[in-house]
Amino acid sequence: MDASIISVINQKGGVGKTTTVINLATALAKKGKKILVIDLDPQGNATTGLGKSNNDEKKSIYNVLIGKTSVQTSIQKTDINDLDLIGSNVNLSGLEVETANDKNRAFLLKEILSGGKDTCFKKYENIFIDCPPSLSLLTVMSLVSADELLIPLQTEFFALEGITQLMKTIDRIKVNLNPGLSIRGVLLTMFDRRNKLSSQVDIEARKHFKEKVYKTVVPRNVRLSEAPSHGMPCLIYDKNCSGSKSYMNLAEEFINQVNQSMGSAA
Ligand SMILES: Nc1ncnc2c1ncn2[C@@H]1O[C@H](COP(=O)(O)OP(=O)(O)OP(=O)(O)O)[C@@H](O)[C@H]1O
Ligand SMILES: [Mg+2]
Repeated sequence: MDASIISVINQKGGVGKTTTVINLATALAKKGKKILVIDLDPQGNATTGLGKSNNDEKKSIYNVLIGKTSVQTSIQKTDINDLDLIGSNVNLSGLEVETANDKNRAFLLKEILSGGKDTCFKKYENIFIDCPPSLSLLTVMSLVSADELLIPLQTEFFALEGITQLMKTIDRIKVNLNPGLSIRGVLLTMFDRRNKLSSQVDIEARKHFKEKVYKTVVPRNVRLSEAPSHGMPCLIYDKNCSGSKSYMNLAEEFINQVNQSMGSAA
């Protein structure tokens, strides 16, 4: 089967993109799905959070994008069964400048993913792309490559600010570069029951995105923020904490989701 490529995207920083990639990917792998994570953020947080080095130039997505390493050699196994990774490296931050003269550069990642469809990517059910906090070339590359988007929204003040800009970018990409792109779901993160603002963002988001907002809400949970420093997903670090449980529930919801296209991105 063809893997569904899902970009985890929000140009706002620190909203839970990487935490979601790591833990949703782990939860799905634990449920027997074959998953690949591509770390497309020069910060390399998904790479280190999955216990791999972000200094490994040879195995980085950057080297694949510049044609220095084959995609096959860049795929690393993680300690979790059925969960593989193409890691990131800080060099990735130079890609935008280095490819300035390449008119086709927005398609670089898509070409790599299409090229490996019948070979090295064939076994995966989902490929998750962890995006950097910007709407720069890397994010555009992931929007061009993706079948679907997963948008984490931090349940804090200003959460919905910037979403209009994100939606405009998505619509532009749909018109010009990737007509089939759709929103798989919107995930509310760092929810705090005691904070009235969290509930307000919850209500606003569901008003705006309707059934696209996952019923599962990720609570603010300190274990989720501790796990990366141990180089492991929270689901391995402490599988019984509220954060881990929420990502297991999300995986269930994700699997059961009727995969319908939205028609419009907004
Ligand atoms: N539900 C949560 N509860 C508590 N802390 C969390 C939660 N989700 C994420 N964090 C912590 O918040 C910080 C930001 O999360 P994360 O790195 O996942 O966001 P991001 O959107 O990927 O950030 P960036 O835009 O920098 O890539 C991290 O320190 C992470 O450990
Ligand atoms: Mg991140």
